[in-house]
Amino acid sequence: MSDSHHTGNSPSAERLTLPELAAKRQRGERIVMVTAYDAPSARLADVAGVDVILVGDSAGTTVLGGESTVPVSMDDMLVFTRAVVRGSTRALVVADMPFGSYQPSEEVAVASAIRFIKEGGADAVKLEGAGRTLTRISGIVEAGIPVMGHIGLTPQSATLLGGYKAQGRTAAAARRLVDEAILLERAGCFSIVLEAVPPIVAKYVTEAVRIPTIGIGAGAACSGQVLVWHDLLGLLPGRTPKFVKQYAQIGAAIQTALETYVAEVRAGTFPDDRHTYGMPDAERERFEETFRLRTGKS
Ligand code: KIV
Repeated sequence: MSDSHHTGNSPSAERLTLPELAAKRQRGERIVMVTAYDAPSARLADVAGVDVILVGDSAGTTVLGGESTVPVSMDDMLVFTRAVVRGSTRALVVADMPFGSYQPSEEVAVASAIRFIKEGGADAVKLEGAGRTLTRISGIVEAGIPVMGHIGLTPQSATLLGGYKAQGRTAAAARRLVDEAILLERAGCFSIVLEAVPPIVAKYVTEAVRIPTIGIGAGAACSGQVLVWHDLLGLLPGRTPKFVKQYAQIGAAIQTALETYVAEVRAGTFPDDRHTYGMPDAERERFEETFRLRTGKS
């Protein structure tokens, strides 16, 4: 959306466009999305060739250390979004609308979405749910802002869903998800995240719509996949959801590095000559001479 980051700082960079994303789905090319919350991470994702970076409200747990995504504010999300936009030049940047930023009314939803585009520099926004969210989505799309939907396990309403559980596991619930996806497409979504649903449900949802579906814990039949940065890289201790594949154990590598640093500083082995600045001999002698004159010591 925002021209500033398309052409301002990096004239040669071309972000992925929505028609290009749609064409990928039509051609059956799998779409890759990952979350990121800061500039260096966004840069790494961009260089790796990720198609879409989601500035997820999962930041509430992964970055801010909270128990859930619910307390994350618009101001928090705008800081993360700006950083991701600054750090990337190629991927489409989608900002996740936090709890409370679109539920109260269509006007609030449109105003919040506009902030993500104008102040955050995002290309698009993501909202959770169908139902009442549908009118918020069509309002935002009418304002000219692309929207990604999100159904299945929707963490902002985890309490209503009875916890962080897989969804669509009965025939009726699965059918409802297919219907919701169709409604999201009609409301103007350019893509839909499907979270924690059986692969067969994701397959039917994907066949029922023309827009790309992006799965997380939804099997391989979706048009693309998303993983949370900290899960993918093994950054956090403890158990990860069943659907996560850890591609590295970066948390353990950071821990070892920090423990080595602590030990070297305490032992006086860091810094050594390689990490310090030199001084011309004549200047050093003149400098030390001033102290010898003052103290009378030779
Ligand atoms: O906030 C987030 O990271 C998400 C993904 C799990 C899709 O919504």
